[in-house]
Amino acid sequence: VLVVRHRMRNSGKWGKAMGIVREFKDKCGTPIAKLRQVADAMTVEMHAGLASEGGSKLKMLISHVDNLPTGNETGIFYALDLGGTNFRVLRVKLGGVENIKKEFQEVSIPSNLMTGTCEDLFDFVAGELAKFVATEGEDMQIPAGTQRELGFTFSFPVKQSSIAGGTLVKWTKGFDVKDVVGQDVAEELTKAMERVGLGMRVSALVNDTVGTLAEGRYSDPNVIAALILGTGSNAAYVERANAIPKWQGLPPKSGEMVINMEWGNFRSSHLPLTDYDEILDSETLNAGEQRYEKMISGMYLGEIVRLVLLKMAEEAEFFGDTVPSKLEKPFILSTPDMSAMHHDSTPDLKVVATKLKDILEISNTSLKMRKVIVELCEIVATRGARLAAAGILAILKKTGRDTVKKGQENQKSVIAIDGGLFEHYTKFRNTMLDTINELLGKEVSRNIIIKPSNDGSGIGAALLAASYSQYHEYI
Ligand code: GLC
Repeated sequence: VLVVRHRMRNSGKWGKAMGIVREFKDKCGTPIAKLRQVADAMTVEMHAGLASEGGSKLKMLISHVDNLPTGNETGIFYALDLGGTNFRVLRVKLGGVENIKKEFQEVSIPSNLMTGTCEDLFDFVAGELAKFVATEGEDMQIPAGTQRELGFTFSFPVKQSSIAGGTLVKWTKGFDVKDVVGQDVAEELTKAMERVGLGMRVSALVNDTVGTLAEGRYSDPNVIAALILGTGSNAAYVERANAIPKWQGLPPKSGEMVINMEWGNFRSSHLPLTDYDEILDSETLNAGEQRYEKMISGMYLGEIVRLVLLKMAEEAEFFGDTVPSKLEKPFILSTPDMSAMHHDSTPDLKVVATKLKDILEISNTSLKMRKVIVELCEIVATRGARLAAAGILAILKKTGRDTVKKGQENQKSVIAIDGGLFEHYTKFRNTMLDTINELLGKEVSRNIIIKPSNDGSGIGAALLAASYSQYHEYI
């Protein structure tokens, strides 16, 4: 009798845990009809954000990039790419599409600088840049008497005052450096470069999406948009200048303007939000903001899985009668670790077992339990990937490329995508690509090309520094 009772108790707990998973799965559902509603809502917000300043949660920031690189840029340029967990410095020698020489260095940002002071962050960045400049070889030498020029990729929302300057609107992705919001970040960098004795001119200040778009366009004129799916998520695309009512400047000669959507801040009642998303939001430094980003990007996916597991541990004793203490630690489960578990192809899910042990100090899990954990990864990644696909549909709708037009049956639309999540999380990437096809149908999707871009944002910034360089002709 005792044995039977014991089993019943356990099976009751198991049932409860499965109930939590089932409910979560239901709430995360993204049927096609819902994705279309999400896309439509985003298109509406895109119009509103372009109509007036503050007209929408989508900032639709004007990049001041009205001329994308053509492939004819020449010269030696520097770039600095700041905006995730790492930052990179690059030196690029341009001499035609087939002839780019690049050198770069990647440095991880000490985490205390992400929430420290403005001077500390920019001094660190300028210091690393100075060290890199000192390694300039003979073949990458800037002609004597010329100032070095820099494309600055700063991957946060910036209200541009020109191609080379702009003020930070707000921090995202776990950054919260004091006294920078409202300041011109190109100026702050210039001051820091002066402090470390580096004479360099910021010729272009760009978002990573805009840099990726520029880099894509350099070798392919059909590139119309760029996405970042990494620590954060965002998109930029080429808009007709006369479709931007809030633009006060002279109409650009090209008739076009690149818009940094800041789509991470998109919000809609159609988004399949769960209680776990609310908890996650409340744990972040930017609660209430970037709600779409918090459902689809690398900084957050692993954390959502952790929160569901924590609930299962607390309410259904999923890991036994005590809650594993590591599991209570916010952000301990990273998205790369989640991805490794999700892709575990060993028959007994060895990778899952190892991750649980190494990260959460949980051992003795059954295969059945590990399968449930893989399912949780699947639910979270699928929701994110499908929502990202809906965002792409919104851009195609806004630019009239979601249908095949008479006389333009073969017009290609290329979307460049960069970011670690897209690059490394295969199941996320594949689900997103499948969903795009599902949303567009065969006829349209054969004209939509997703182009992985490797480190496009830094090179793109160097290309834009070249396009907008004041010394351009002399080099
Ligand atoms: C965040 C930033 C945005 C950036 C994106 C990808 O959403 O606000 O500017 O493009 O992350 O790095």
